[in-house]
Order: sequence, then C-alpha cells, then structure tokens
Amino acid sequence: MRMRLYRKPLCILLLVVTIPVVFLVLLTWSPKPYNAVDIRYQARGKPENQMENGLRFLSQKYAHVPYTIKEDVVRLLTSNSCQCQNVDNPINLPFIQKYLPHVWAHSFENVYNVSELEGVKKRRSQEYRSFIERTQSPADLLIVAKANSPLEYPTQGVEVRPLQSIVVPGLSLQASSRDEYRVNLTATLGTFNVAAEVQGVTVQGEDEMHLSLSSPQLENLNRQLQFIVYTNTRFHPDTADTVLLDTDGHQASFAIKVRYRVTPRLYNSGSEEGYNVSALVTIATKTFLRYDKLRDLIESIRKFYPTVSIIIADDSDKPEKIQGPFIEHYIMPFGKGWFAGRNLAISQVTTKYVLWVDDDFIFTANTKVEKLVDVLEKTSLDLVGGAVREVTGYTATFRQKISVESGGEEGDCIHIRKGYHHDIQGFPNCVITDGVINFFLARTDKVQQVGFDPSLARAAHLEFFMDGLGKLHVGSCSDVIVGHASKIKLPWTKTESEKTYAKFRYPSSSDNDVKAKHTFFYFKNRLKCMTMD
Ligand SMILES: *[C@@H]1O[C@H](CO)[C@@H](O)[C@H](O)[C@H]1NC(C)=O
Ligand SMILES: *[C@@H]1O[C@H](CO)[C@@H](O)[C@H](O)[C@H]1NC(C)=O
Ligand SMILES: *[C@@H]1O[C@H](CO)[C@@H](O)[C@H](O)[C@H]1NC(C)=O
Repeated sequence: MRMRLYRKPLCILLLVVTIPVVFLVLLTWSPKPYNAVDIRYQARGKPENQMENGLRFLSQKYAHVPYTIKEDVVRLLTSNSCQCQNVDNPINLPFIQKYLPHVWAHSFENVYNVSELEGVKKRRSQEYRSFIERTQSPADLLIVAKANSPLEYPTQGVEVRPLQSIVVPGLSLQASSRDEYRVNLTATLGTFNVAAEVQGVTVQGEDEMHLSLSSPQLENLNRQLQFIVYTNTRFHPDTADTVLLDTDGHQASFAIKVRYRVTPRLYNSGSEEGYNVSALVTIATKTFLRYDKLRDLIESIRKFYPTVSIIIADDSDKPEKIQGPFIEHYIMPFGKGWFAGRNLAISQVTTKYVLWVDDDFIFTANTKVEKLVDVLEKTSLDLVGGAVREVTGYTATFRQKISVESGGEEGDCIHIRKGYHHDIQGFPNCVITDGVINFFLARTDKVQQVGFDPSLARAAHLEFFMDGLGKLHVGSCSDVIVGHASKIKLPWTKTESEKTYAKFRYPSSSDNDVKAKHTFFYFKNRLKCMTMD
C-alpha cells in the first residue's frame, strides 16, 4: 500500500519530465522538408529600363574616339525626361483643326498642395519599386554575349516548369588545345546533374547549384555537356534562373525561364455553321435611372437577337424590375458608379465574348454583331470597337492612340491622340488602335483580366484602355453601327463631332471629378501629366 502510494507520484513525475524531452528530441530530429525562402522585397537595383536612358549611360570604354551627335536621331530615343505641353493653334477654323489639332496638357501634381505632395511622392515610389520587383523577371534582364567566347550556349528560349527538370540545350566549349578542359555551371534557383556519364570526364557537384566538369579530351567534355540536366528546386513560378557558365578566362550567362504553361480558358460555343450570336455573345450594360432608355435598348436588341443574354448592372436609387427571357438584372447599392457596374456586369458573363453597350443605345439593322464576332474569331485582337450614330446622323468611332513616355522619378507622361496605328488586312473597315468607343465586343477573359477599376465612380472610359495598354490588342471597325438615343445638349458653337468627342474625350463635370481623376492617374498609374488632342 505504501509502495503504491509512493509510486504513483513518481510515475507522474517521470511522465512530466519525459514527455517534453521526447518532444524536444522529436523536434530536433525530425527532417525539415521545407527550406525557407526569402521573397520579401529587396528594394534592389534600378527600376528603370537601361535602354530608356538614351545616351546618358554611354559606355566610357572607347571614350578617346571622337563622335558627332545626330540630334534628329537622339530625339527619337526616350530619355526619361518627358514633358506635357499645350500646343495652341492660332487659327481656330474647323478644317485647320483637323490637321493641326489643339493639344491640351494636364498636370497631375497640381492636385496636391506642397505639404501633401512630399508624402504622396514617397509612398508612390515605394509602391512602384515593389511593383517592379513583382513584375520583373530575370528573363527580362539584358544579357550580352561577350566577343570571342569559346563557350556556346542558348541565348534565350530555355524554359522549365516549376520544380521540374530539363536537358539544357546548346552547351559546348570550342577552346584551343590545352592539358585540361574545364567548364563550370552555376545556378541560383535550381541544381544540375548529368543524364549520362561520359568516359574521361570528371563531374563534381551533382544535385548542387554548382557543377564542375573537366576532361583532358575536348570531345568527351562536349559530349558530356549535351547531358546536362537542370532541375528547378526553388518554387517561384514566373521568374527565371540566370545560369553562369564558366571556363578558364571566359564567362557567359543565360536565363532559364521558370514558369507554368498558361492554363487555357476555352469556351465551347457549339458546332453550327456560321456564328450563333446567342451562344457566343452576352450583351452587358450598366444603367442608372434611365429605365425608359434601357427598355428601348432591350426592345431593339430583341428585334435582331431574340435569345442573346443581356446582363444589366443597376445602381439606381429605386430600382425598377426589368424582366424577360435571357435577362439578368443585378441591383447594386445606390450610386456605386460606372466602373463598379461594368465590373459587376462582366464578372457574370459566361460566353466567349461580351458586347458592351450603353443603356441609351439602340440596335438597328446596321448593328451586325456577327461582323465583330468574325473579326475576333479570325484575328488576334482581344477587343474590337464599333461605331455610334448620333440622332443627327453623325457617326463616331472614337479611336485613340495611347503612348507613355518615361519621365524618371517624377512619373511618366501619357499622350493620347486621335487616330490609329494600322489598317487590318482582310477587314477593310477595321483598324488597330489603343482605345475605342463605349460600344465594343471583347474576349470575356481578357476584359475580366484588365477589369474596370471600381474606384472610378464618375464618368470614366479611357482609364480602362490605359489599364489595358500592353494587355489588350485593340481594334475598331466603322461598319458595325449602333444608334445613340440621347440628344446631347451643348453650346451651338460646337459641331456634332466635337460634341460627341467632348463627351468621351475628357468627361469632367466638376472640379472634384477632375481632382479625383488626377490623383488616380498620379498615384495608381504613376503618371505626372497627360496631353490630349
Ligand atoms: C494640404 O491638403 C491637406 C489635405 O487636403 C490638408 O489637410 C492640409 O491642411 C493642406 N495643407 C496646406 C498647407 O494647405
Ligand atoms: C570551377 O569550380 C571549381 C570548384 O568550385 C573551382 O575550383 C574552379 O576554379 C572553377 N573553374 C572555373 C574555370 O571557373
Ligand atoms: C444558338 O445558341 C443557343 C444558346 O446556346 C441555343 O439555344 C440555340 O439553339 C442555338 N441556335 C442554333 C441555330 O443552333
């Protein structure tokens, strides 16, 4: 009895002591399968593209050789010092306007007062550096192949899936005769190995980031170099491993891109002959208070496309019910705004294409959606605009060219001009441009990718195309025409074309809207100013 009483606490004591010890031992002994990686922003390097510096970083290597600058050519180079300037047109006649358009410049910095600006600038450049680190891949870096290098290697096009292996193509050494030939390979995101062993070649560092090969016979070494296998070990898709290739006295670098195959997003739209618009297209619109206009639009669509789906985003105060077959009516909180509505509408589209219309448009016999479908089916364009005909008969396509010029620390300059880049072969009424009117057909997945920034509550349009620059391949066709039901009341002095233009060009109903937009451009798009004609 005594013994037992004594034993119990001892057992408990033993347990209390051993459990933590066992835990500790287990913890220290258990293999650690996960290496920690540092993916924090490094704030390293210059965010600027070296090639966007004109001649400012001209190499000093041959400084003693004289040269003469050709100003007309140097002017073509970007120099990171863009400016936005008004171009006044002294003679204000319509036909001169056409050839010498007035250019308006808007500076975005002015929306901040001096004390605010400093902090905003700091935050913007911080955000910008992080953005550059996120989006830049080592595969974008400039790699120069040095002259007379005895090394042969791939300059680009080598790619590996994350954590998978490839045979590195194109490696060889063309050196003059010597006792021993040596080549080293060094990676930073993966390891090397050989898929086969070649006689007479010494291989060191298999399954490591640094592989050394040496052989007294050049041929054997080169044979061995054909069997080099690279395995990506550090998981970080959409980056690149810059491999250093080393032989006595010579070095070369090349990039192995690390990325997934893009997962396709394909739409099965049936197999009939010709285009079934109902299966391919969803019509999306955003309405606010204008139910009479919206009902006219729906009625006009149904005359030509009785079964095409219509998606309506509605942020009216007292929403009215819009019912009917193939209609989806989404009620949003009051006054959520123009881009929020567009965003909601496109998020619900399940067809391959989405046709954007304003709620005061009217379909007519000229609104041949098939024609726009045909353009997107047969070209690489992502988005194609049509034309809008005003009640007066004036027809607008609102084609815009957008270009961005680098401006260094202060931000870049954006320039928007009427016009287009190219005609499109096989489609005589269509052109390639950067921005189009509010009536366009687009690949659904591409517009969803770019999105309509919901913070733009007020009149906004071009902002979408600015966000899409570099992501969307945009076209415009003048022979697919939708009617515009609203009459625009504007001063007599303006011609019809100017009225339409003014509506889309720079919609700014109040100082507050302009300020909101300028702060938006300044920070989000890191621009300092804009010019428009
Ligand atoms: C600058 O603007 C901020 C915010 O609009 C305001 O709080 C501040 O008082 C202004 N400063 C000056 C010196 O006007
Ligand atoms: C290759 O790497 C080995 C081991 O790291 C080193 O000793 C040798 O000097 C290197 N050779 C060349 C040509 O860089
Ligand atoms: C067109 O597509 C719609 C929706 O997918 C389908 O209901 C209709 O039967 C198709 N029309 C023809 C002629 O195949």
